[in-house]
Order: sequence, then C-alpha cells, then structure tokens
Amino acid sequence: MIPTTAREIRLRSRPAGWPAPENFELCEVPVRQPDEDEVLVRNTHMSVDPYMRGRMSDAKSYVAPFALGEALQGGTVGWVAASRSQIPVGSWVRHDRGWRDYATIATKLAQPIDVNIAPPSAYLGVLGMPGLTAFVGLHDIGGLGPSDVVFISSAAGAVGSIAGQLAKAHGATVIGSAGSDEKVAYLTNELGFDAAFNYKNGRSVDQLRRLAPDGIDLYFDNVGGEQLEAALATLVDHGRIVACGMISQYNETAKAPRNLTAIVRSRLTMRGFIVFDHQARSGDFVREVAPQVKSGRIKFPESIVDGLENAPQAFIDMLRGGKYLGKVIVRLADAEARSPNTSS
Ligand SMILES: NC(=O)c1ccc[n+]([C@@H]2O[C@H](COP(=O)([O-])OP(=O)(O)OC[C@H]3O[C@@H](n4cnc5c(N)ncnc54)[C@H](OP(=O)(O)O)[C@@H]3O)[C@@H](O)[C@H]2O)c1
Repeated sequence: MIPTTAREIRLRSRPAGWPAPENFELCEVPVRQPDEDEVLVRNTHMSVDPYMRGRMSDAKSYVAPFALGEALQGGTVGWVAASRSQIPVGSWVRHDRGWRDYATIATKLAQPIDVNIAPPSAYLGVLGMPGLTAFVGLHDIGGLGPSDVVFISSAAGAVGSIAGQLAKAHGATVIGSAGSDEKVAYLTNELGFDAAFNYKNGRSVDQLRRLAPDGIDLYFDNVGGEQLEAALATLVDHGRIVACGMISQYNETAKAPRNLTAIVRSRLTMRGFIVFDHQARSGDFVREVAPQVKSGRIKFPESIVDGLENAPQAFIDMLRGGKYLGKVIVRLADAEARSPNTSS
C-alpha cells in the first residue's frame, strides 16, 4: 500500500566546519502519484557520500549547492511502486533523489538495475559511483600498470576498497592505509592487499617508507593532508598521483602537505578528476567489474545504518571515520518486502 505521506530530510542550515544534526530536518510531505512518463519509487537504500559535504556549503563547485529548506539529494535505489511509464511496477531502479522514503521522478532519471548480479545496495557502491571512481581513477587518470607499486589511502572506504582490489587484479603491488588496526587487518586478510598500515599509529611517511623501501609508483589519494605529504616523499621519479579526494580537509583547514617541491624534484604528475565527467566509461566498468562482483572475486564491504531518521548521523560518522567499514548505506526499507508482482 502506498502511503499518502512520507518523510524526507532537508538541509536546515549550512554547516560551518563539521556538520551537526541541527543542520538537518526530518519532514513529512505528501506522496505525489506519478504523472505521465513518471514513476513513484519506494527507496530502499540511500548513499551517504563525502562529496555531499561540499554541496552543503554554498561555495562555487562542480555541482550546485543543496538548497536550504529543500530535501537533500544523492544516490538511492528502490523499487517502482506506481508507474505511468514503460518501467513496470516492481522494477528495481537507481536514481538521485535519495534522503527520502518515496520519490516521484521522470522515467529518464530512473536507471534500471539488475538485482540478480548483486543486491540493490551494491549499485550505490561497488557497482555504482564509488566503483566507477576507482576504475576511472586507476586506469584513465593513473595509467595503472601491472608492475606498479600503488598506495591507496582510506583503503577500507567505499572507493579505496574497490580500487585496491582492482589494482591487485591488474597485477600491481598494493599498499593501503586506514584508521584502525581492525581495518588494516581486513585489508590484508580479506581484500588481498599486499601490506597496510594504520595512519594513526605513527607518522604516515615512516610507515609508508618501511612498507615500500624502493618507493611507490602511483598514489591514489582519497585523503589529502598528511598522507599526501607522505606519498610525495615516497614517490619514485616520474611517479603519479591520482587526486581523487581529500576528505581530511572537508571540515578542517589543511596543515599539510608542506613538501610540494617534491613534484618538481621527482618530476611527478598529479591529476585530479571528477567521476561525473567519465560516465562514458560506465559500460566498460560494468563489463569488467560486474562479473567479478557476481562471482565473489571482488568483495564489497558495506556498513548498513537503518532508518531515514538516522541518515544525518550516518553521514557525519562516515565523514569522521573510525566507525564504518566500506560503503556506508542507509537502509530505508526492507528490500525483501517489495511489491511481489514482478521478478527483478
Ligand atoms: N573525484 C571523484 O569524482 C570522487 C568520487 C567519489 C569519491 N571521491 C572522494 O574519494 C574519497 C573517498 O570517497 P569514499 O566515498 O570512498 O569515502 P570513504 O573513503 O568511505 O570515506 C570515509 C572514510 O574516510 C576516512 N577518513 C575520514 N577522515 C579522515 C582523515 N582525516 N584522514 C584519513 N582518513 C580519513 C575514514 O576512514 P578511517 O576510519 O580509515 O580513518 C572514513 O571511514 C573522498 O575524498 C571522496 O570525496 C571522489
């Protein structure tokens, strides 16, 4: 049964520094039935991603800021609960109207997903934006080669955990960093990293040099700050940096890196990218990665938080780190309880 009202999370105020629960507001709104060429989706899982922090500020960026007093947006998956489109009721889709229990959207915004390959939540992580980011970052931006020694920061996170496994599958030697001994053990024991270190257990540069005495060829930077400084000091001549993200600086002012002269001295290349510019690679990505996800060769750690009302705290905890492993997903409804009248 489709309810007449449902909940959404709005941005009440823009965070200054670290976001807090007071920046968010849970509201009850009418559920709108679909018009012609629209579907109503019962969202079952939504993503919380670091880039959303940038959209909560009103600084100029590659994507427009979230509007105050309006529902937030972001990757979400769910099943079609009502349809006036060629997408039948019961179909699984992905779209970008997350942070709400129900969404009425144009057909063209609803991307069908195949839940026989992987569970719906995987389309927000390994088979979604973070997975494509890992794939594009390594291959198109980083020029990954089989003899590379690769260092990946936030290696137990959504992007890092996939980047590490893709680089290993390509033959590279892979070193990861993470913020707890449990995560470090997970990287080497479960995800096949060659080595890993806890960046909270001493200076990153010392730990990285110990694990890579001959230097690293490629740094996949998810973090910036002190770990970027460590990588700059450890890269071989003509080494490369994939500037994917700098999560250590999204809520605080950076104190590092202080050694950018290494770029000149070691003839380094540092290249940033935004995954949304690389959607044309989605087909190649799915062809390479989906079979490995289905076979179990690629693992996709997820941390699931229940309930839309807990999404703001999940987002804040994801940014702070330490609590969650892999992709952080907020479960909005039981995926098993979907409309029973269609198959996938
Ligand atoms: N360029 C693009 O198009 C693109 C696309 C997607 C993501 N990104 C970026 O890629 C990075 C990873 O994204 P993701 O979605 O996979 O997020 P993620 O790595 O899962 O982010 C959460 C993790 O970040 C780590 N972290 C937080 N603060 C840190 C700090 N000060 N120092 C070191 N680690 C810290 C924490 O891990 P620990 O518990 O291990 O500390 C936390 O669990 C982010 O910077 C994101 O903005 C870029």
